[in-house]
Amino acid sequence: MSFADPAARPVMRPGQALCALADIADPGGRGFIVECDGEKLEIFVVRRGPDVFGYANDCPHVGTPLDWQPDVFLNVDKTLIQCSTHGALFRIADGICVEGPCRGDRLKAVHIKLVDGLVVLAA
Ligand code: FES
Repeated sequence: MSFADPAARPVMRPGQALCALADIADPGGRGFIVECDGEKLEIFVVRRGPDVFGYANDCPHVGTPLDWQPDVFLNVDKTLIQCSTHGALFRIADGICVEGPCRGDRLKAVHIKLVDGLVVLAA
C-alpha cells in the first residue's frame, strides 16, 4: 500500500515492521513516519535487490524532504538517491552525497533490519 498524502501515513514505532520487502519496488523506495523518543520523524527506505537502507527524509543541504512525489526517492536510472529540491545525488549504500550543493555530506542513517521478509525499524 502507498499513501499519496504522506501526512496520512500511520506512525510507526521502533520494533514494528514498516512493510514487507516485497512491498518496495526493486530498486525503489518508500517513505514512512516513525516516532522515536516522542518525536515524529519522516524516514525512507531504499531497496536494492535483497538489501534495504534507511535514512531520515531530510536533505543535508537545507533540510527539505528528498522525494518529489510520495515514495519517489531515486534518480531516473535508479542508481542514486536524488533530492527533489536542488538535485543532489547520494549513494544508496551509505548516503554520501556524490554530486550537488552538499557534496561530501551524508544522509542521516536510520537503523532498519530485515526479519522474515519484513522491513523492521530497529528498537
Ligand atoms: S535541499 Fe537537497 S540539494 Fe538542496
